[in-house]
Amino acid sequence: MNSVFNLFPEQASSISSEIDLLYLFILIVSVVFTLLAAFLVIFFAVKYRRRSEDDRPEPPHADSKLEIAAGAFLLVLLMGMFFWGAKLYFKGNRPPSDAMEVLVTGKQWMWKLQHPNGKREINTLHVPLGVPVKLTMTSEDVIHSFFIPAFRVKNDVLPGRYTQVWFEPVKAGRYDLFCTEYCGNEHSRMVGWVEVMEPADYERWLSIGTTAAASTAAGGGPGESPVDAGARLFAELGCVTCHNQNSGALGPNLTGVFGREETMTDGSVVTVDENYLRESILNSQAKIVAGYAPIMPVFKGLINEDQLAQIIAYIKSLNDNGTDG
Ligand code: CUA
Repeated sequence: MNSVFNLFPEQASSISSEIDLLYLFILIVSVVFTLLAAFLVIFFAVKYRRRSEDDRPEPPHADSKLEIAAGAFLLVLLMGMFFWGAKLYFKGNRPPSDAMEVLVTGKQWMWKLQHPNGKREINTLHVPLGVPVKLTMTSEDVIHSFFIPAFRVKNDVLPGRYTQVWFEPVKAGRYDLFCTEYCGNEHSRMVGWVEVMEPADYERWLSIGTTAAASTAAGGGPGESPVDAGARLFAELGCVTCHNQNSGALGPNLTGVFGREETMTDGSVVTVDENYLRESILNSQAKIVAGYAPIMPVFKGLINEDQLAQIIAYIKSLNDNGTDG
């Protein structure tokens, strides 16, 4: 069907065909019921039209069995759509734990991307075929929105917090990438490509260019990975002075903290995710873990988005191998 009319973009991610199937189902249900309602309105208007001045119609009587059956049928149909949609929504919003993470920063008017080994690129995203990829996204200025039609994924990219999308490409090729939130004069030119490559080609591409200096430019080599850069900043900024494994440390030990539930001084419970870490670094007094004093300095204005993402990447990495938190 797609090849005939070309109404839909290619189905290039693991979720594309499922999204399209749900879309098609809702579309068919909508069309069928719209036509049915329009037909019945016209049909009954004609059938029960007033035929003469002294036309006295019989009072209507309700067929309660028919009404209950119709109600039950619609309930099942609509709840079916709801649960089907909810299931896909959750699937589309919960990246697998082994997903490869790429950092995305939107900026008037370009997409900046960084791979796990530190390699950066602009407006083109290279990803390996058949590997789940999670994008952690933020903006340096205004609201953007990240959209890859062929993958059926889209999410707003906001200043001051992280949002994410994930996908698993199932077809090698080159796909459109759009900004879909009006973000200024050059919004319509804030576009790019996603290159889905065979894993071996991706590995080769990743290793092209090896100097740290090159990695600061677009399309540069690996250089310093976000985790390594974060570890360096963690030491340079003095974080390690309080966040260490010594008993009596002034700040919580961060090893294994990511994803954990922590009780705050006001009794509320917070799950430690990217946005919590972000807030706790930039505005450290906002939510303090119970048992600690609010003595951490505020880092807002002292570090940029890149550095913040690197520190968070480092803290997350402590879950896997952390002994030096
Ligand atoms: Cu960025 Cu529109």
